[in-house]
Amino acid sequence: MAKSINCSEILKKVLDDLYERIEGNEAAKDPKINGAIQTLRRGFGNLAAQTAKIDYREDVVRFAYVFKYVMAHSNYIYDILGNVKEVEILFRQPRTKICAVGGGPGSDVLGILKYHDSIKSDTHLVFRLIDREQLWMDSWMNVQDHIGDSLRIDTHALTFDVAIPESYIKFTAHHDSDLYTFSFFISEVYGTRATAQAFFELLFEKAKHDSQFLFIDNNDSRFFGWFDKMAEKAGLELRYTQNRTVKVWDSDEDKRNFGVYFSKFNFPKLESDVAIRLYQKP
Ligand SMILES: C[S@@+](CC[C@H](N)C(=O)[O-])C[C@H]1O[C@@H](n2cnc3c(N)ncnc32)[C@H](O)[C@@H]1O
Repeated sequence: MAKSINCSEILKKVLDDLYERIEGNEAAKDPKINGAIQTLRRGFGNLAAQTAKIDYREDVVRFAYVFKYVMAHSNYIYDILGNVKEVEILFRQPRTKICAVGGGPGSDVLGILKYHDSIKSDTHLVFRLIDREQLWMDSWMNVQDHIGDSLRIDTHALTFDVAIPESYIKFTAHHDSDLYTFSFFISEVYGTRATAQAFFELLFEKAKHDSQFLFIDNNDSRFFGWFDKMAEKAGLELRYTQNRTVKVWDSDEDKRNFGVYFSKFNFPKLESDVAIRLYQKP
């Protein structure tokens, strides 16, 4: 029987790969990682500024992000999918295409796989991960190995910058997705909204009839307000809306699965105040 999906167990292996890549010995790596965790925390507190830019090209920054945020973000997605009944239909059909916008670290994918597993879905999932940072894929190529062969999934990376039209204008394959996820992405591109907005307008225009758009981000009206406005302008229909606290409820996601990293680097995130939306294209 296939083993059920435990995000923190899988992420421990991703962290091991990333830790190896960080230059230096343990005594040199660990302070750098603690520094990167602090830098991320400050960066995420200042996302509305146009200058806010987190550089995920650094191995140490990707390690810090996976350690601190990915287990929580995956579990939030898993939890929300279980609450938003409208999405279940997508997991009761033979094949579903999912586009994780800003999904590079794989949080959206893991959360969706955990939900897929929990409802015993047989749907063949095809993931498209849009992200400007190619290096995320390097960590995630072997996630399928960590998960095992029992799941029939395909993962494709679409590497472009949503704030640079020349970088994405020729990409069209993702426009036939059934579900789009925006997990902590809108806040990250808010500072460049003057140029990024055209990407979302195009996405909503080209998306097919009945496709669904799942948004989760910090409970800050600048972020959900921008998303709501764009969705409304595109004529998307609101199917679910909540602003509330989300938590990692699953006690099997024991943060101690992070092993030695848990004692060295403080707590991964386990709770957030967020805005959640599900829109559908009529
Ligand atoms: C805060 S992370 C969210 C990742 C994931 N969805 C999650 O919930 O953990 C934001 C992601 O957006 C990507 N990103 C930031 N700005 C971008 C842009 N202008 N175009 C494409 N990707 C971008 C980053 O590389 C990063 O992977």
